[in-house]
Amino acid sequence: MISGFYERIVGTSPPPEPNEPKILCVGLSCLDIVQICKNYPKEDTDQRCIDLRYQRGGNASNNCTVLSKLGQPCEFLGVLSNEQFSQFLQDDMRSHKIDFSHCPIIEDIGCPKSVVLLSLSTGSRTIIHHNQSNAEIKLQDFEKLNLEDYSWIHFEGRNISEVILMMQHIEAYNKSLTQKEIEDSKECIQQPITISVEIEKMKVELLDLLPYADIAFVSKDFAKSRGYTNMSETLKCVSKDAKTGVTIFSAWADRGAMARAPDGTIIQSPAYPPRKIVDTLGAGDTFNSAILYYLNRAKLNSKRNSEDTQLHVNDIQQNYNIESSEKSQTHFINRLVLQEAISFACKLAGAKIGMQGFDGLN
Ligand code: ADP
Ligand code: FRU
Repeated sequence: MISGFYERIVGTSPPPEPNEPKILCVGLSCLDIVQICKNYPKEDTDQRCIDLRYQRGGNASNNCTVLSKLGQPCEFLGVLSNEQFSQFLQDDMRSHKIDFSHCPIIEDIGCPKSVVLLSLSTGSRTIIHHNQSNAEIKLQDFEKLNLEDYSWIHFEGRNISEVILMMQHIEAYNKSLTQKEIEDSKECIQQPITISVEIEKMKVELLDLLPYADIAFVSKDFAKSRGYTNMSETLKCVSKDAKTGVTIFSAWADRGAMARAPDGTIIQSPAYPPRKIVDTLGAGDTFNSAILYYLNRAKLNSKRNSEDTQLHVNDIQQNYNIESSEKSQTHFINRLVLQEAISFACKLAGAKIGMQGFDGLN
């Protein structure tokens, strides 16, 4: 199933194949208690909000919500618990067809929660988060996965040292595929896994994750915390810490988004604001998911059509001056694909902020 949104924004696209590999998102799932206010409240006042709802939140969990709305097979990996709010999160993932079968479920660790104030007058979202246990996925949880099931693994940049170990585990798996190809002297059915990471929270140590990522998303909150004032400055400064061949995205609210391609070329999209902004909670998560979705489709399609793939790879190698021996995990990315992906992502994020929650993204 490809959603109506996709068709309206991009046109038709082949539906996912049966048994298509999944996109795995590793990170947080939490309860969001969302209060819709006319204005952002003054401190120490007593007032009524217009509406209140609770929904499943957390970046990786939101990424899965949007991916599943787009018809993309996906899985969430994060620590869950057995308490009532965590049960709500699990029921909600089930109803969205999000696989969470590898999540450790730990007793008595509580459920992470956010209180979110949405201001209808400014469109702002103010998040106050609480996580009593700070329990995170560890390498030993990650090692239980069968990596053949995934085409793409996305990490919400969190517990840095463990995330690095997980990324190294994927790198070793990818190398084993190349080795097998050399030994069998034929192309392996399994494609290497693309690794992406989100640098969102205002912690400079998150930059340590960049050398392991093929694709990176740098949030405006992180950028501002480093003193960057715009997207090009962000991309220029952050790319110094990244590996060769990386593609980096910087999204910035009403300024739209920008990407830096592997050869340093800059690609940009304006924002597509809705008539009225009602809910910016998860705008960045929607943008990132749309990119994951679009680029993953480009990757699978380039594999499916092998003749085209060879032409495509030659084209990309010329585009980016990449020697054939340096073919990267992101060989399916060229300027056109990047331009389409970033425009699609800004359109989807623009549509999202015009509606409450994610339910309307069907
Ligand atoms: P977040 O604050 O959730 O990290 P961002 O500011 O990075 O979100 O926005 C992600 C994308 O959502 C932007 O690139 C843009 O396309 C869209 N967006 C967010 N806020 C606005 C806005 N006020 N007007 C228009 N588009 C917006
Ligand atoms: C939005 C979000 C919310 C959650 C918070 C956690 O991006 O994932 O759903 O409460 O961020 O930081």
